[in-house]
Amino acid sequence: MIDFKGKSAVITGGASGIGLGIATALANQGCNIAITDINEKKGQAAVKELAKKGVKALFIHHDVTKEADWDTVIATLKKAFPPVDYAFNNAGIILQPAPLTEIKVKDWEWIISVNMWGALFGLRKFTELMEQQDINGHIVTTSSTAAASVTSTWVPYCVTKVAVLRMVEGYQAEANLFGKTKIKYSAIMPAVVYSNIGNSETYRLPEYATSDVPAVEQPNIQPGSPEGDSMGMITTELAVERILKQVSYGHTYIYTHRDLTSALILSETNSLLLNNPPTDQAVFNGAHYAKKAARP
Ligand SMILES: NC(=O)c1ccc[n+]([C@@H]2O[C@H](COP(=O)([O-])OP(=O)(O)OC[C@H]3O[C@@H](n4cnc5c(N)ncnc54)[C@H](O)[C@@H]3O)[C@@H](O)[C@H]2O)c1
Repeated sequence: MIDFKGKSAVITGGASGIGLGIATALANQGCNIAITDINEKKGQAAVKELAKKGVKALFIHHDVTKEADWDTVIATLKKAFPPVDYAFNNAGIILQPAPLTEIKVKDWEWIISVNMWGALFGLRKFTELMEQQDINGHIVTTSSTAAASVTSTWVPYCVTKVAVLRMVEGYQAEANLFGKTKIKYSAIMPAVVYSNIGNSETYRLPEYATSDVPAVEQPNIQPGSPEGDSMGMITTELAVERILKQVSYGHTYIYTHRDLTSALILSETNSLLLNNPPTDQAVFNGAHYAKKAARP
Protein backbone atom coordinates (compact mmCIF):
# COMPACT_ATOMS: atom_id res chain seq x y z
CA MET A 1 0.00 0.00 0.00
CA ILE A 2 1.25 3.51 -0.88
CA ASP A 3 2.53 5.64 1.97
CA PHE A 4 0.53 8.89 2.11
CA LYS A 5 3.18 10.56 4.31
CA GLY A 6 4.18 13.98 3.00
CA LYS A 7 1.42 13.96 0.35
CA SER A 8 -1.44 16.48 0.24
CA ALA A 9 -5.16 15.88 -0.14
CA VAL A 10 -8.25 18.03 -0.50
CA ILE A 11 -11.63 16.58 0.54
CA THR A 12 -14.97 18.20 -0.30
CA GLY A 13 -17.70 17.54 2.25
CA GLY A 14 -14.84 16.72 4.61
CA ALA A 15 -16.48 17.97 7.80
CA SER A 16 -18.49 14.78 8.40
CA GLY A 17 -18.90 11.08 7.70
CA ILE A 18 -16.80 9.38 5.03
CA GLY A 19 -15.00 12.62 4.08
CA LEU A 20 -13.95 13.30 7.67
CA GLY A 21 -12.96 9.64 8.02
CA ILE A 22 -10.70 9.91 4.96
CA ALA A 23 -9.21 13.19 6.25
CA THR A 24 -8.48 11.66 9.68
CA ALA A 25 -6.96 8.44 8.31
CA LEU A 26 -4.75 10.37 5.85
CA ALA A 27 -3.64 12.87 8.52
CA ASN A 28 -2.74 9.92 10.81
CA GLN A 29 -0.35 8.85 8.05
CA GLY A 30 1.24 12.33 7.79
CA CYS A 31 -0.73 13.63 4.79
CA ASN A 32 -1.54 17.37 4.66
CA ILE A 33 -5.29 18.00 4.54
CA ALA A 34 -7.58 20.69 3.13
CA ILE A 35 -11.23 20.19 4.04
CA THR A 36 -13.95 22.05 2.19
CA ASP A 37 -17.56 22.02 3.37
CA ILE A 38 -20.73 24.06 3.62
CA ASN A 39 -20.72 23.43 7.40
CA GLU A 40 -18.26 26.03 8.73
CA LYS A 41 -18.56 25.00 12.39
CA LYS A 42 -17.89 21.28 11.87
CA GLY A 43 -15.19 22.05 9.29
CA GLN A 44 -13.27 24.38 11.61
CA ALA A 45 -13.57 21.88 14.48
CA ALA A 46 -12.28 19.10 12.21
CA VAL A 47 -9.15 20.99 11.06
CA LYS A 48 -8.34 21.92 14.66
CA GLU A 49 -8.19 18.19 15.49
CA LEU A 50 -6.26 17.34 12.30
CA ALA A 51 -3.62 20.01 12.98
CA LYS A 52 -2.86 18.30 16.31
CA LYS A 53 -1.49 15.39 14.27
CA GLY A 54 1.35 17.62 13.04
CA VAL A 55 0.15 18.03 9.45
CA LYS A 56 -0.92 21.16 7.59
CA ALA A 57 -4.71 21.38 7.99
CA LEU A 58 -6.84 23.96 6.21
CA PHE A 59 -10.60 24.58 6.12
CA ILE A 60 -12.24 26.37 3.17
CA HIS A 61 -15.93 27.28 3.26
CA HIS A 62 -17.54 25.86 0.13
CA ASP A 63 -20.94 25.24 -1.41
CA VAL A 64 -20.16 22.70 -4.17
CA THR A 65 -23.13 23.88 -6.25
CA LYS A 66 -21.61 27.37 -6.76
CA GLU A 67 -18.88 27.83 -9.36
CA ALA A 68 -17.66 31.03 -7.64
CA ASP A 69 -17.03 29.02 -4.45
CA TRP A 70 -15.02 26.51 -6.47
CA ASP A 71 -12.88 29.33 -7.83
CA THR A 72 -12.19 30.51 -4.27
CA VAL A 73 -11.28 26.96 -3.21
CA ILE A 74 -8.84 26.54 -6.10
CA ALA A 75 -7.28 30.00 -5.55
CA THR A 76 -6.85 29.26 -1.81
CA LEU A 77 -5.27 25.89 -2.51
CA LYS A 78 -2.83 27.43 -5.00
CA LYS A 79 -1.85 30.14 -2.53
CA ALA A 80 -1.84 28.41 0.83
CA PHE A 81 -1.44 24.67 0.28
CA PRO A 82 1.18 22.34 -1.20
CA PRO A 83 0.46 20.83 -4.67
CA VAL A 84 -2.58 18.57 -4.39
CA ASP A 85 -1.76 14.88 -4.89
CA TYR A 86 -5.26 13.59 -4.06
CA ALA A 87 -8.62 15.31 -4.52
CA PHE A 88 -11.59 13.57 -2.90
CA ASN A 89 -14.70 14.86 -4.64
CA ASN A 90 -16.95 13.62 -1.87
CA ALA A 91 -19.72 16.06 -0.85
CA GLY A 92 -23.20 14.64 -1.35
CA ILE A 93 -26.73 14.54 0.04
CA ILE A 94 -29.77 12.26 0.01
CA LEU A 95 -33.48 13.04 -0.02
CA GLN A 96 -35.78 11.47 2.55
CA PRO A 97 -37.25 8.30 0.97
CA ALA A 98 -40.40 9.01 -1.04
CA PRO A 99 -42.24 7.65 -4.08
CA LEU A 100 -41.50 9.47 -7.36
CA THR A 101 -45.04 10.79 -7.47
CA GLU A 102 -44.43 12.70 -4.22
CA ILE A 103 -41.01 14.17 -5.00
CA LYS A 104 -41.08 17.89 -5.76
CA VAL A 105 -39.19 19.71 -8.50
CA LYS A 106 -37.21 21.60 -5.82
CA ASP A 107 -36.11 18.26 -4.33
CA TRP A 108 -34.84 17.10 -7.72
CA GLU A 109 -33.10 20.44 -8.29
CA TRP A 110 -31.34 20.29 -4.92
CA ILE A 111 -30.06 16.73 -5.27
CA ILE A 112 -28.98 17.29 -8.88
CA SER A 113 -27.19 20.53 -7.87
CA VAL A 114 -25.22 18.98 -5.02
CA ASN A 115 -24.60 15.43 -6.25
CA MET A 116 -24.27 15.98 -10.02
CA TRP A 117 -23.13 19.59 -10.45
CA GLY A 118 -20.97 19.35 -7.31
CA ALA A 119 -19.17 16.28 -8.70
CA LEU A 120 -18.88 17.77 -12.20
CA PHE A 121 -17.42 21.05 -10.92
CA GLY A 122 -14.98 19.00 -8.86
CA LEU A 123 -13.84 16.94 -11.83
CA ARG A 124 -13.41 20.08 -13.96
CA LYS A 125 -11.72 22.29 -11.34
CA PHE A 126 -9.44 19.64 -9.78
CA THR A 127 -8.39 18.51 -13.27
CA GLU A 128 -7.43 22.10 -14.20
CA LEU A 129 -5.57 22.53 -10.90
CA MET A 130 -3.60 19.28 -11.21
CA GLU A 131 -2.75 19.96 -14.85
CA GLN A 132 -1.40 23.40 -13.89
CA GLN A 133 0.57 21.84 -11.05
CA ASP A 134 1.85 19.19 -13.51
CA ILE A 135 1.76 16.29 -11.05
CA ASN A 136 0.51 12.68 -11.22
CA GLY A 137 -2.64 13.61 -9.31
CA HIS A 138 -5.51 11.30 -8.40
CA ILE A 139 -9.13 12.51 -8.37
CA VAL A 140 -11.42 10.22 -6.36
CA THR A 141 -15.11 10.97 -6.78
CA THR A 142 -17.80 9.42 -4.59
CA SER A 143 -20.57 7.69 -6.51
CA SER A 144 -22.54 4.94 -4.71
CA THR A 145 -23.70 1.35 -4.95
CA ALA A 146 -26.98 3.12 -5.75
CA ALA A 147 -25.44 3.61 -9.22
CA ALA A 148 -25.49 -0.16 -9.76
CA SER A 149 -29.27 -0.58 -9.84
CA VAL A 150 -32.48 1.17 -8.88
CA THR A 151 -33.81 1.38 -5.30
CA SER A 152 -37.49 2.22 -4.84
CA THR A 153 -38.09 5.50 -2.96
CA TRP A 154 -34.43 6.54 -3.44
CA VAL A 155 -34.64 7.05 -7.22
CA PRO A 156 -33.28 10.65 -7.41
CA TYR A 157 -30.20 9.53 -5.46
CA CYS A 158 -29.69 6.55 -7.83
CA VAL A 159 -30.06 8.87 -10.84
CA THR A 160 -27.45 11.36 -9.60
CA LYS A 161 -25.00 8.64 -8.59
CA VAL A 162 -25.17 6.79 -11.91
CA ALA A 163 -24.47 10.16 -13.59
CA VAL A 164 -21.45 10.66 -11.32
CA LEU A 165 -20.15 7.21 -12.23
CA ARG A 166 -20.41 7.95 -15.98
CA MET A 167 -18.62 11.30 -15.50
CA VAL A 168 -15.68 9.61 -13.78
CA GLU A 169 -15.55 6.86 -16.41
CA GLY A 170 -15.68 9.52 -19.12
CA TYR A 171 -12.80 11.50 -17.66
CA GLN A 172 -10.69 8.33 -17.32
CA ALA A 173 -11.62 7.10 -20.82
CA GLU A 174 -10.63 10.42 -22.40
CA ALA A 175 -7.42 10.56 -20.33
CA ASN A 176 -6.53 7.15 -21.84
CA LEU A 177 -7.67 8.05 -25.36
CA PHE A 178 -6.03 11.45 -25.71
CA GLY A 179 -3.07 10.79 -23.39
CA LYS A 180 -2.89 14.47 -22.48
CA THR A 181 -3.09 14.14 -18.72
CA LYS A 182 -1.21 12.33 -15.96
CA ILE A 183 -4.30 12.36 -13.73
CA LYS A 184 -5.87 9.12 -12.50
CA TYR A 185 -9.69 9.10 -11.98
CA SER A 186 -11.55 6.75 -9.61
CA ALA A 187 -15.12 6.31 -8.38
CA ILE A 188 -15.93 5.17 -4.86
CA MET A 189 -19.10 3.07 -4.74
CA PRO A 190 -20.01 2.79 -1.07
CA ALA A 191 -22.92 0.72 0.16
CA VAL A 192 -24.27 1.66 3.59
CA VAL A 193 -21.60 3.30 5.78
CA TYR A 194 -22.13 5.02 9.14
CA SER A 195 -22.27 8.81 8.59
CA ASN A 196 -24.59 11.78 9.01
CA ILE A 197 -26.14 11.46 5.52
CA GLY A 198 -29.56 10.64 7.03
CA ASN A 199 -29.55 14.26 8.25
CA SER A 200 -28.94 15.76 4.79
CA GLU A 201 -32.12 17.84 5.20
CA THR A 202 -30.22 19.95 7.76
CA TYR A 203 -27.85 21.05 4.94
CA ARG A 204 -30.60 21.83 2.40
CA LEU A 205 -29.68 25.02 0.56
CA PRO A 206 -32.24 27.83 1.05
CA GLU A 207 -32.91 28.20 -2.69
CA TYR A 208 -34.29 24.64 -2.73
CA ALA A 209 -36.46 24.99 0.38
CA THR A 210 -39.80 23.20 0.46
CA SER A 211 -42.37 23.93 3.11
CA ASP A 212 -43.04 20.45 4.47
CA VAL A 213 -39.63 18.92 5.15
CA PRO A 214 -38.50 18.84 8.79
CA ALA A 215 -34.82 19.77 9.11
CA VAL A 216 -34.24 18.58 12.65
CA GLU A 217 -31.13 16.52 13.36
CA GLN A 218 -32.03 12.89 14.19
CA PRO A 219 -29.85 10.27 15.92
CA ASN A 220 -27.89 8.30 13.33
CA ILE A 221 -28.47 4.57 12.86
CA GLN A 222 -25.56 2.72 14.47
CA PRO A 223 -23.51 -0.03 12.85
CA GLY A 224 -24.12 -3.25 14.75
CA SER A 225 -27.70 -2.28 15.66
CA PRO A 226 -30.52 -4.45 14.21
CA GLU A 227 -31.45 -1.64 11.77
CA GLY A 228 -27.81 -1.03 10.80
CA ASP A 229 -27.22 -4.74 10.26
CA SER A 230 -30.39 -5.10 8.19
CA MET A 231 -28.86 -2.59 5.74
CA GLY A 232 -25.37 -4.07 5.86
CA MET A 233 -24.03 -0.89 7.51
CA ILE A 234 -20.32 -0.80 8.37
CA THR A 235 -18.33 1.70 10.44
CA THR A 236 -16.77 4.76 8.83
CA GLU A 237 -13.32 3.55 9.93
CA LEU A 238 -13.71 0.15 8.22
CA ALA A 239 -15.07 1.77 5.05
CA VAL A 240 -12.19 4.27 4.97
CA GLU A 241 -9.59 1.54 5.52
CA ARG A 242 -10.99 -0.31 2.49
CA ILE A 243 -11.27 2.87 0.42
CA LEU A 244 -7.71 4.08 1.06
CA LYS A 245 -6.24 0.65 0.35
CA GLN A 246 -7.91 0.63 -3.09
CA VAL A 247 -6.96 4.29 -3.71
CA SER A 248 -3.34 3.43 -2.99
CA TYR A 249 -3.53 0.54 -5.49
CA GLY A 250 -4.85 3.01 -8.09
CA HIS A 251 -8.12 1.11 -8.65
CA THR A 252 -10.70 2.80 -10.87
CA TYR A 253 -13.70 1.38 -8.99
CA ILE A 254 -13.47 1.44 -5.21
CA TYR A 255 -15.82 -0.62 -3.05
CA THR A 256 -16.76 -0.73 0.60
CA HIS A 257 -18.95 -3.84 0.14
CA ARG A 258 -17.54 -5.63 -2.91
CA ASP A 259 -19.85 -8.70 -2.73
CA LEU A 260 -23.04 -6.65 -2.52
CA THR A 261 -22.05 -4.26 -5.29
CA SER A 262 -20.93 -7.11 -7.58
CA ALA A 263 -24.24 -8.91 -7.04
CA LEU A 264 -26.18 -5.76 -7.94
CA ILE A 265 -24.08 -5.08 -11.05
CA LEU A 266 -24.55 -8.67 -12.28
CA SER A 267 -28.26 -8.49 -11.63
CA GLU A 268 -28.56 -5.16 -13.50
CA THR A 269 -26.53 -6.54 -16.42
CA ASN A 270 -28.85 -9.56 -16.59
CA SER A 271 -31.87 -7.25 -16.60
CA LEU A 272 -30.47 -5.30 -19.54
CA LEU A 273 -29.30 -8.30 -21.57
CA LEU A 274 -32.22 -10.63 -20.89
CA ASN A 275 -34.89 -7.93 -20.97
CA ASN A 276 -35.96 -8.73 -17.41
CA PRO A 277 -37.58 -6.20 -15.07
CA PRO A 278 -34.92 -4.39 -13.04
CA THR A 279 -33.95 -5.79 -9.67
CA ASP A 280 -34.78 -3.48 -6.79
CA GLN A 281 -31.92 -3.16 -4.30
CA ALA A 282 -34.49 -3.47 -1.54
CA VAL A 283 -34.89 -7.19 -2.31
CA PHE A 284 -31.31 -7.79 -1.12
CA ASN A 285 -30.86 -8.95 2.44
CA GLY A 286 -28.53 -6.35 3.95
CA ALA A 287 -27.62 -8.48 6.97
CA HIS A 288 -26.42 -11.25 4.68
CA TYR A 289 -24.11 -8.82 2.94
CA ALA A 290 -23.01 -7.24 6.23
CA LYS A 291 -21.62 -10.64 7.23
CA LYS A 292 -19.95 -11.09 3.87
CA ALA A 293 -18.55 -7.54 4.01
CA ALA A 294 -15.91 -8.79 6.45
CA ARG A 295 -13.89 -9.60 3.30
CA PRO A 296 -14.10 -6.71 0.79
N1 LIG B 1 -22.91 6.91 4.02
C1 LIG B 1 -23.31 6.09 3.07
O1 LIG B 1 -23.88 5.03 3.35
C2 LIG B 1 -23.04 6.42 1.63
C3 LIG B 1 -23.31 5.43 0.67
C4 LIG B 1 -23.05 5.71 -0.66
C5 LIG B 1 -22.51 6.92 -1.03
N2 LIG B 1 -22.28 7.87 -0.08
C6 LIG B 1 -21.72 9.15 -0.50
O2 LIG B 1 -20.62 9.48 0.31
C7 LIG B 1 -20.41 10.90 0.27
C8 LIG B 1 -20.21 11.40 1.70
O3 LIG B 1 -21.45 11.27 2.41
P1 LIG B 1 -21.54 10.82 3.94
O4 LIG B 1 -22.30 9.57 3.96
O5 LIG B 1 -20.23 10.88 4.58
O6 LIG B 1 -22.54 11.95 4.49
P2 LIG B 1 -22.37 13.14 5.56
O7 LIG B 1 -23.69 13.83 5.55
O8 LIG B 1 -21.88 12.61 6.86
O9 LIG B 1 -21.25 14.07 4.93
C9 LIG B 1 -21.52 14.86 3.78
C10 LIG B 1 -20.86 16.23 3.93
O10 LIG B 1 -21.20 16.99 2.75
C11 LIG B 1 -21.46 18.34 3.17
N3 LIG B 1 -22.33 19.03 2.21
C12 LIG B 1 -23.67 18.87 2.00
N4 LIG B 1 -24.11 19.74 1.07
C13 LIG B 1 -23.01 20.46 0.67
C14 LIG B 1 -22.81 21.49 -0.27
N5 LIG B 1 -23.82 22.00 -1.00
N6 LIG B 1 -21.55 21.97 -0.44
C15 LIG B 1 -20.52 21.48 0.30
N7 LIG B 1 -20.65 20.52 1.22
C16 LIG B 1 -21.89 20.00 1.39
C17 LIG B 1 -22.12 18.18 4.53
O11 LIG B 1 -22.01 19.39 5.29
C18 LIG B 1 -21.34 17.03 5.13
O12 LIG B 1 -20.23 17.49 5.89
C19 LIG B 1 -21.64 11.48 -0.43
O13 LIG B 1 -21.30 11.75 -1.79
C20 LIG B 1 -22.64 10.35 -0.37
O14 LIG B 1 -23.59 10.42 -1.38
C21 LIG B 1 -22.53 7.65 1.24
